[in-house]
Amino acid sequence: MSRLLLKNALIVTGTTSFNGCLGIEGERISGIWKKEPEGFEASWAIDLGGKILMAGGIDAHVHFRDPGLTWKADIGSESESALLGGITSFIDMPNTKPPTISIEALEEKSMTASLKSRANYGFHLGATNTNVSLIKEYLDAGMAGRFAGIKVFMGSSTGNMLVDNDKSLNELFKIGKKPILVHCEDEGIIRANMEAAAKTYGDSIPFSMHPRIRSREACIKSTGKAIRMAMEYGTALHLLHVSTKEEIEMIREAKVRNPKITAETSPNYLWFCDKDYGRLQGKVKCNPAIKSDADRQALRQALAEGVIDTIGSDHAPHLVTEKEEPYLKCPSGIPSVRESLPVLLTVARECGIPLERLAEVFSENPARIFGIKDRGFLKEGFFADLVVIDPDGITVPAGSGYKCGWTPYEGIALKGSVDMVWINGELAVSASKPSAATGRCHPRPLLFQSIG
Ligand code: DOR
Ligand code: ZN
Repeated sequence: MSRLLLKNALIVTGTTSFNGCLGIEGERISGIWKKEPEGFEASWAIDLGGKILMAGGIDAHVHFRDPGLTWKADIGSESESALLGGITSFIDMPNTKPPTISIEALEEKSMTASLKSRANYGFHLGATNTNVSLIKEYLDAGMAGRFAGIKVFMGSSTGNMLVDNDKSLNELFKIGKKPILVHCEDEGIIRANMEAAAKTYGDSIPFSMHPRIRSREACIKSTGKAIRMAMEYGTALHLLHVSTKEEIEMIREAKVRNPKITAETSPNYLWFCDKDYGRLQGKVKCNPAIKSDADRQALRQALAEGVIDTIGSDHAPHLVTEKEEPYLKCPSGIPSVRESLPVLLTVARECGIPLERLAEVFSENPARIFGIKDRGFLKEGFFADLVVIDPDGITVPAGSGYKCGWTPYEGIALKGSVDMVWINGELAVSASKPSAATGRCHPRPLLFQSIG
């Protein structure tokens, strides 16, 4: 078995950071030391020159479009982008074609991933108005380990998977054995705003109207409803892509009464604001909408304070030709899996957020929330999923890095770069490029342990 020693690293975990060494034996971490260990006979040693060493990212919110929409993206192309962004494990959302709303569809996706994925993979199961009893049957039959969580669209978005039947929603929130992930936007409010905008602008609705159509009120009302149900049933509720300061305050209070409530935001809400619609038009159209600078500031603050638990990229690629369509035809979604960590590093530097907090939101908390076995932490015995970050490196995103061919982050100089990545002890990224061995690495399915 090969024994690799990474030395002179700034080892960063959710609780501490120090200069030290980390050993890899086979596919696992064999030790972490403050000084070079005696008796560890390395077959290979690398001096990291003081660069940051963290657990590889677990991105629990991606839309890799496979199956059914693979002209936009596919599991092979997007998992390679993930690795280049320091993400070693991803969990894909169910709004594919067909949607992942049964174990059969999930197994099909898993099979595709076993053939094409470059990163460790897992999937959320999608809820509908009519599949709640089926989900319960799966759980009763001991299938909880096969999927990460149950995704509920309380507002409709790409894929039309709206769950708007209150009886079904209540049943879902009562399930208990799996985290319930929700997309919160109130359909009634959105519909009324859309009708008003269509009256004023006809077919030529400006993109700057997006945060007024998919308004903050729509998010606040829907998030309030999800929190109320999670309080009533003690649900492990994971609120996705939080985008307003009011929701942050609601979540802060809710966590005191139900600590199983957790929250995610995406790099897109930490980076962009409504001033960007003029310049970037449909390229920053996503659901929920990117809101004001004050919301962006509040989200950054919430990230610093721990109200935000995870960063999910919400990587949602569409073709550039689709994104250049007028408002009503332009699909919502932003590719961001590769920029997630560089954006986080840049925001952390601008806001004085310690690296330990990044380790929590980037890998440790997703591992905790979804019960991912033996990953997400720098710990002896855990899989060697690792990222080396050059804090002085500059990342300049380019659309050509994605199968979809564009990114709204094009040309922005982000501070911090992904230098190397190991997945299950194998070097997948070296000098910020796929390593010679990346195609020969052995990604694994994620194993989900039951929660509380
Ligand atoms: O902007 C979005 N794009 N929001 C979603 O909820 C879905 C996603 C997609 O799949 O395109
Ligand atoms: Zn999403």
